[in-house]
Parts: sequence; C-alpha cells; structure tokens
Amino acid sequence: MTDSTDSTDSTDPTDPTAARPLPPEAAGHLEHPDTGRPVLMTATDLVAGYLPGVDILNGASLELRQGELVGIIGPNGAGKSTLIKALFGLVPVRSGTVVLDGEDITSKPAHELVAQGVGYVPQTKNVFPSLTIEENLRMGIFLDPGRFDERFERVVSLFPLLADRRRERAGLLSGGQRQMVAMGRALMTDPSVLLLDEPSAGLSPLNQDEVFARIDEVKAAGVSVVMVEQNARKCLQIADVAFVLDQGRNAYTGTGRELMDDPTVIELYLGTLARDL
Ligand SMILES: Nc1ncnc2c1ncn2[C@@H]1O[C@H](COP(=O)(O)OP(=O)(O)OP(=O)(O)O)[C@@H](O)[C@H]1O
Ligand SMILES: [Mg+2]
Repeated sequence: MTDSTDSTDSTDPTDPTAARPLPPEAAGHLEHPDTGRPVLMTATDLVAGYLPGVDILNGASLELRQGELVGIIGPNGAGKSTLIKALFGLVPVRSGTVVLDGEDITSKPAHELVAQGVGYVPQTKNVFPSLTIEENLRMGIFLDPGRFDERFERVVSLFPLLADRRRERAGLLSGGQRQMVAMGRALMTDPSVLLLDEPSAGLSPLNQDEVFARIDEVKAAGVSVVMVEQNARKCLQIADVAFVLDQGRNAYTGTGRELMDDPTVIELYLGTLARDL
C-alpha cells in the first residue's frame, strides 16, 4: 500500500551491483565549501580497488581542513570504507593523489602514515577483545612505549571510562565502550588526522549519541577528523563539511547543514539510510 515504487525505475540505492546513473543535479553540488581554514589533507580523483581490473573508487575526492570534521555518507557498497582505507595506504591506489600537509603520501604504508600523524579506526575488529583496556592502549603506542603515561593521561581525559576500567578485558565491554577503546588506541600516537570508519555501527541510539559527542570533543581537542557513517543524519549534524559518495565517486559536497537541508540528498540518501537504521 505504502510502496509506490515504479517498476520501471526500481533500482535499489543500497544495491552496490545496480548500475545507476548519478543524479544529474549532482553536477552542481561538488564544490568544496571554503571555510577559510588551512587545508590539511586532500584526496584527488582516487581510483582504487582490490581485484585486478575492478575499480571500487572511480575518481573520489575529499578535502580535510585543519580542525574540521569531514563526514562521508552514501549507500552500502558505495566505497566509503575503501576510500578511508585508500587514505591510509591499505588499498592499492591506481591513480589520483593523497596529500598531507603539502606532502604526497599516496600509497605510503600505514605504519609510515601513523608516524606522520594519521590515526585509523577500522569499521570492524577494532579492539583486541582478550586484552585489557590498558593493553589495547599500549598496542596503540608500542613503537614508543616511553610515551605511554603521558599519552594515557591525555586520552583518558577525553574518555574517562578508559581509566576507570583500565584492567578490564575489552571483550567484556559494551559496543559503545569498545568504540571508545578503539578511538583511544588510535589517539595514543597523538595524530593530527583521525580516520573513523562507522564509529556508531551496531550501537543503541543512546550509545550512538555518546560516541558522536565524544568525537566532537576529540575534534575540539584539535584533531581533524574524517568520519564515514551509515547514520547519515547524525553525521551531517556534527560534520563541518560532508560528501555523499555514490558508486565510488562524489555525488554531493557541502556543509553538513547544506546537505541535511538539500531535498535531493534527503530523497536519494537520507530517506534510504534512515530506513536502514
Ligand atoms: N577486501 C575486498 N576484496 C574485494 N572486494 C571488496 C573488498 N572489500 C570491499 N570490497 C568491495 O568493494 C565495494 C565497496 O565496499 P566498501 O566496503 O568500501 O563499501 P562501503 O561504502 O564501506 O559499504 P558499507 O556501507 O556496507 O560499509 C563492495 O562492492 C565490496 O564488495
Ligand atoms: Mg564500510
């Protein structure tokens, strides 16, 4: 009754295999808003993929400015995780560039990027469940153990729970608490850029709000953040700048507020994603 889907136009935006043209309106919505802050990281026209001859990113670009939070939203299978992995040297980049602080870091291995101030929290398996919270945080800085105490104090000032429960095994924590451990681990190296892949995935609405509030505090503490999120509305609420990624390329760019208020974005992406929740 409520389903008014036209059978001649029944492509499912959540189906990554569906060949779907990008909306023509998208062409006018790709300019990056100029917030006036210095640019910290750019990705330009990235083409990348896992299997030979199969490109998952088809020219994706983004710009992260100092002290900002960039949100990336888009349908399942759009290539959001692949984009974040490409920034962190975990997927072969076939063409395009990634620049950090003026230096070309395209395809640099992850451990070198960590040394250059990039932190990454993967979408899944982002804590060591059999290790304690403290041991997880030690893993984050195992190359420089002498700095553990100083960094631990800093990280638990953002996530006090991690100090209170430092001797508990991470596997016993709730999903939201585990996300704090994962972010805390990535922050142990004092990154200037934090890459977060779906930090709210699988969490209750209350825990999601808590995680987003913490991410906002991480940003306020001076860390620039690139965050991929399924929870598009909440992502746009805290994003300074946001990108819709669709079929491996940018479909829309704007401030979080602009995208949240854009009728086409609402219709094509927010409605669908809201139903997915
Ligand atoms: N390790 C891999 N090997 C081969 N193909 C992969 C691999 N990881 C992802 N893909 C493919 O790349 C495409 C994009 O996947 P990706 O995980 O980047 O999407 P996503 O936008 O993060 O989706 P989701 O919202 O479900 O997390 C999918 O078609 C997926 O099957
Ligand atoms: Mg993903």
